[in-house]
Amino acid sequence: MNEKVRDLLNQQINKEFYSAYLYLDFSNYFEEVGLDGFANWYMIQAQEERDHAMLFYTYLQNEDQKVTLDAIAKPDKEFSCHMDVLKAGLEHEKYVTSLINDIYAAAYDVKDFRTMQFLDWFVKEQGEEETNANDLITKMELFGTDPKSLYMLNQELGARVYTAPSLVL
Ligand code: FEO
Repeated sequence: MNEKVRDLLNQQINKEFYSAYLYLDFSNYFEEVGLDGFANWYMIQAQEERDHAMLFYTYLQNEDQKVTLDAIAKPDKEFSCHMDVLKAGLEHEKYVTSLINDIYAAAYDVKDFRTMQFLDWFVKEQGEEETNANDLITKMELFGTDPKSLYMLNQELGARVYTAPSLVL
C-alpha cells in the first residue's frame, strides 16, 4: 500500500475514536442537564464512531499493514446552551467528511481502487451523518424553546436504537 494512503487510514482510526469520545462527552452534557433522550442519541452516535474506528483498523489489518495507535485527544468544548452542542456535532461531521475526502483523493492519485471501494461506504455514511446532524438542529430550532415540545423531542431521541454498520470486513 502507498505510504501516504496507509498513514491517512491509520490516522483515521484515531479520528474516529476521538469522534466517539467527543460524542460521549455530548451524551455526558445532556445526561447532566436531564435530557436523557438526547444523551441516548449521542451515546449511540459514540457507538457508531467506535465501529468506524474498528473498520479502519480491520481494513489495515486485512491489507497486512502496520497499525499504530496514538493518544486520543481530550474533548474540551464548553457549551453555553443545548444548541451549541448540536452545532458542534454538525461542524465535526463536516470535518470528518473532509478527512474521508482527503484519504479518497490520496487513494485516487495512486490508483488504489481497493481503498477507494472501502471508502465508498464512508462517503455515503458521511452524507447521512451530516443530514442527521442538520435535522437535529432544525428540530431544535422548531421545538427547542417550548418545554412541552422539547420533552417530546427528547422522547423521540430516546427511542433511537443502535444498529451495527452495514459494512462488514
Ligand atoms: Fe465516523 Fe460521524 O463519522
